[in-house]
Amino acid sequence: MNLVLDLSTCGITQGQRNTFTEKLQDALAKLGSGKEDFTGWVDAAGIVTPGEMDDIEETAKAIREKCDLFIVVGIGGSYLGAQAVMDALFCGQGADGPKVVFAGCNMSGAYHRRILEMMDGCDCCLCVISKSGTTTEPLAAFSILKEKMEEKYGEQASSRIYAVTDREKGRLREEADEAGYRSFVVPDDIGGRYSVLSAVGLLPLAVAGVDIRSLTQGAVDLMTDEEACEAEADYALTRVALSMSGKWIEVFEYFHPELHFFGEWLKQLFGESEGKERKGIFPASLMFSRDLHSMGQFIQQGKPLLFETVIIIDERNEDVIIPESAGAPLAGKSIEQINDCAIKGVAAAHTKAGVPVIKLHVPKMDAYNMGQLIYFFEKSCAIAAYTMGVCPFDQPGVEAYKQEMRDEIAKIDG
Ligand code: PA5
Repeated sequence: MNLVLDLSTCGITQGQRNTFTEKLQDALAKLGSGKEDFTGWVDAAGIVTPGEMDDIEETAKAIREKCDLFIVVGIGGSYLGAQAVMDALFCGQGADGPKVVFAGCNMSGAYHRRILEMMDGCDCCLCVISKSGTTTEPLAAFSILKEKMEEKYGEQASSRIYAVTDREKGRLREEADEAGYRSFVVPDDIGGRYSVLSAVGLLPLAVAGVDIRSLTQGAVDLMTDEEACEAEADYALTRVALSMSGKWIEVFEYFHPELHFFGEWLKQLFGESEGKERKGIFPASLMFSRDLHSMGQFIQQGKPLLFETVIIIDERNEDVIIPESAGAPLAGKSIEQINDCAIKGVAAAHTKAGVPVIKLHVPKMDAYNMGQLIYFFEKSCAIAAYTMGVCPFDQPGVEAYKQEMRDEIAKIDG
């Protein structure tokens, strides 16, 4: 595999990991059996068929030709993966294709007003993504934005609206079929937070100009790599062992701001997969150097509840030299050289303070390696959840809030 997992400063021994061998075997058997619900993503090569891949690319090409603003409506697993990959690869910013914006993941009037205003000045396409087809936030945002599309394009609006949803069920499927939107399917056996390599992620990513074949290939290659399977298990079991030693918070850290949404995706993946039955590790994410000047203090000297998982991009695509005016010792060095010193210095300081640090190196940031990262974390997360004794693929707590919110909406007058 391209990724390198460094457990040398994690504080957990192979012997401690081995105490979970039986649970690990059970977890791997469940994930590999092809019989457990919602494990369709495990076979990364089979998530979309070759025909679907062609369809997604052709549709994305048509969208890129006919609009300069592509609005993606979705929440949770129906948007975070796409935004994470897009941002990490600096795609979808409008430089060589449509600008991609996301909606339906908050209920802010100001936020949606800004999107309506953006739609005034340009050619738009709209894509709504919801597996259930019933989630309140995306459905509300979609209705608002669809009305604007109809205002702009009249009867032609439906040829600019796309839907990714369940094959048969839900309000969105009914509407898509009735209105004739070009639609794609969220596979039955894949839940939201494991769906980025299905049409849920691939359609918006292809529109943003991401090489989705390479992204998928990264995951497929990891799936069949023995060294990767070992690393996924080691990472998963290290986390479980750390939690059992009282480290109940995992902080995902990165030194490149383009990984901000990857941190958000990780929080969703781990939080929703593990956090149930009063179990789980609380996932947090921090962006360094920024957060070294806030949360860095807590990590160094606060209550010792946490461990760190640092994602390190080894080869940087771009760099800038610090000018002479900076004086010694910075002048003439590059900003990424200084970043490297931060990476090493932070690890040294935190390790000396007794904080367990796990490092995951990515050789460079491209679609292929993003595919590897996605698959690595999905698989590790599912193994860890099973090892903790919870189902990685449901989210009863989320369903509870959805229902409470619907009840509140029903009480609004008029
Ligand atoms: O991971 C999950 O299943 C959830 O986070 C969902 O993605 C989220 O609740 C959105 O659901 P839906 O796609 O049905 O609108």
